[in-house]
Amino acid sequence: MSPRNRGGHPGRAAAPAAGDVSLRPILGASARMQRLLRLVSRVAPTDSTVLVLGESGTGKELVARSLHVLSRRAQAPFVAVNVGAIPEALMESELFGHARGSFTGATAERMGLVEEADHGTLFLDEIGDMPLPTQVKLLRMLENGEVRRVGENTPRMVDVRVVAATHRDLQSLVADGRFRADLYFRLNVVQLDLPPLRERREDIGLLASFFLDRAAQKQRRGRLEFAPEAMALLQRYDYPGNVRELENAIEHAVALTEGGEIGPHDLPAAIRTPRMLPLSGVPGAPSHAFGGPQQAPPEPARNAEADTRPLDVVLREHVLAALTRHRGNATAAAKQLGISRTTMWRMLKRWGVSRSAIKGS
Ligand SMILES: Nc1ncnc2c1ncn2[C@@H]1O[C@H](COP(=O)(O)OP(=O)(O)OP(=O)(O)O)[C@@H](O)[C@H]1O
Ligand SMILES: [Mg+2]
Repeated sequence: MSPRNRGGHPGRAAAPAAGDVSLRPILGASARMQRLLRLVSRVAPTDSTVLVLGESGTGKELVARSLHVLSRRAQAPFVAVNVGAIPEALMESELFGHARGSFTGATAERMGLVEEADHGTLFLDEIGDMPLPTQVKLLRMLENGEVRRVGENTPRMVDVRVVAATHRDLQSLVADGRFRADLYFRLNVVQLDLPPLRERREDIGLLASFFLDRAAQKQRRGRLEFAPEAMALLQRYDYPGNVRELENAIEHAVALTEGGEIGPHDLPAAIRTPRMLPLSGVPGAPSHAFGGPQQAPPEPARNAEADTRPLDVVLREHVLAALTRHRGNATAAAKQLGISRTTMWRMLKRWGVSRSAIKGS
């Protein structure tokens, strides 16, 4: 950290120093993760802005770090910023820096996080929380590489690759006027969608074994294994907290278990006694697994007068509810909706629901 920048940034994630971003593997045997991994290695060496979307705990930050490590910027800083954690009043000076005396408390000049990421990668997490005035400044930076510190007149040039992430539906934020459309399109040059874990159950076993070995090593335990009943519970659970929840569950189990085997009773209660989940973990979440052991009931109809959601969101929910009602049978759902199967597939493709998640494909 530069001497002009003591005091710490509130939104800055605890990130390793430049050139020290360890490459943790992104595991995934499912077709969707394999496709994503191919995309990550193809996009990483380019300077394209990348938008990473996915529910909480799906690996958005892991993907952002991999994009950095696999790029020509790997030896320069990776600066992770949690936009949602920065108080709005401090947002501009945190990101773009400030001149001495530019506001009360600005006792020294300070470089912003964007300048800190010069020649490297700036990871803007929870980009959907960025206030509109800051969005304008960010857009300018993306378009001509210029940043202006608060209280200064002359812009400075920076060379920064931006990776942004959010678990929110940016398109509906745009529709609501809370996110600038021009910035959305500028960020969305390449979009990487991280599927929820319940839509790629093939990956559960692989991830569980990996986390088991890692936790056993960390907690200095000998070789541990899963009892078949414990593995069956892990395979069946819906993971609203996705990979992070699986990782924590296994650390929990390793800490509790006494023998060399993880039994069902070592797992967290949520996994031992799975509950019914609503149609989607996040409002407007793009996709859902069908045919799993816990069928979600369709969402209740909303009050039409208060319903200000964009048509595409309503349509998506309606179609997914029909699919759920028909237990993932696309032919039956399309018939009930009065549309052709082709139309249905086209819509599902647009929303990122893979054919493999649906029966009758
Ligand atoms: N495919 C994967 N392979 C291995 N580990 C993974 C994978 N996906 C996620 N993880 C691990 O799960 C945890 C959560 O991942 P990460 O922090 O990247 O999620 P996130 O999408 O940024 O979540 P949030 O939206 O809550 O910030 C991390 O410890 C990460 O290393
Ligand atoms: Mg994250």
